Amino acid sequence: MYNLARQLLFKLSPETSHDLSLDLIGAGGRLGLNGMLTKQPARVPVTVMGLSFDNPVGLAAGLDKNGAAIDGFAQLGFGFVEIGTVTPRPQPGNPKPRIFRLPEATAIINRMGFNNLGVDNLLNRVRASQYKGVLGINIGKNVDTPVERAVDDYLICLDKVYPHASYITVNVSSPNTPGLRSLQFGESLKQLLEALAERRELLAAQYGKRVPVAIKIAPDMSDEETVQVAQALLGAGMDAVIATNTTLSREGVEGLAHGDEAGGLSGAPVREKSTHIVKVLAGELAGRMPIIAAGGITEGKHAAEKIAAGASLVQLYSGFIYKGPALIREAVDAIAALPRQ
Ligand SMILES: Cc1cc2nc3c(=O)[nH]c(=O)nc-3n(C[C@H](O)[C@H](O)[C@H](O)COP(=O)(O)O)c2cc1C
Repeated sequence: MYNLARQLLFKLSPETSHDLSLDLIGAGGRLGLNGMLTKQPARVPVTVMGLSFDNPVGLAAGLDKNGAAIDGFAQLGFGFVEIGTVTPRPQPGNPKPRIFRLPEATAIINRMGFNNLGVDNLLNRVRASQYKGVLGINIGKNVDTPVERAVDDYLICLDKVYPHASYITVNVSSPNTPGLRSLQFGESLKQLLEALAERRELLAAQYGKRVPVAIKIAPDMSDEETVQVAQALLGAGMDAVIATNTTLSREGVEGLAHGDEAGGLSGAPVREKSTHIVKVLAGELAGRMPIIAAGGITEGKHAAEKIAAGASLVQLYSGFIYKGPALIREAVDAIAALPRQ
């Protein structure tokens, strides 16, 4: 059925098709229909970050930026759902067009720029949802907040989402907000992590629960930089790392229509880069912090490769756009078929 829907959706512009799909998935979710229309994946329970997941395959951030279709995505069989990136204040994002399909490469280029309705709206949607599974809330900074004040925006969002999230992702890796990626390095990263850790202690005492915090990183890092990030995250007591966001590289899409659009490249061309980052992180973290892998999973076996590389959970975005919910089942089955470690 997704093949038919896809044929129709791919005739529309990527953003129109994105909005329409979100409306349909959201409406199906409210009516409780999606679970009936989709063959559900096997139950492959895992515990990561102290949280229990029905299966290790989640929805990556950015598809449901406002939390408009949480129930709908959950009913499609995802083992967890990450919403956002959300910013303190609503913002329109970059001018359209800002998302491009590259079907020959099973890839997407986007420069959305954190278009979202703001954290208060997102929390209203979370309150309205029926979903009882693992919900990640991914937080970022407004484009007009100077990068030197970025910490303020993350803390505003952390305070607000804390009582509502199963885990919180700090996104310092979108390429579409100028300066954001600089927060992944050196003193800027250290200061951000210290501020987050300190505020989290206060929030944990206030709410009587310790909500895990994950940091989402870019694939465009040297091994040395990746090791430094791993050490900084361990030092600050973070709970997980998500690897990776989209890439600035254009390897694999040179000469293709839209291949030279500005923005972040996702899908098949980012797979190896992302998996390499997972391997470097796994080597350095040595089991002390879980890794959530995203990047280029377009077939079940790619999800299994990420787990074999050292990840505990995986997330889908571009592969889901191209393959639909069947990819969730494929990924769950491929992971379940891995020999137990
Ligand atoms: C259109 C689009 C929007 C995205 N928006 C976000 C976002 O708001 N926050 C975020 O952390 N990642 C965002 N991402 C990155 C994805 O969550 C994911 O990390 C990346 O696309 C790699 O996975 P994939 O190859 O399966 O797509 C976005 C990706 C795409 C294609």
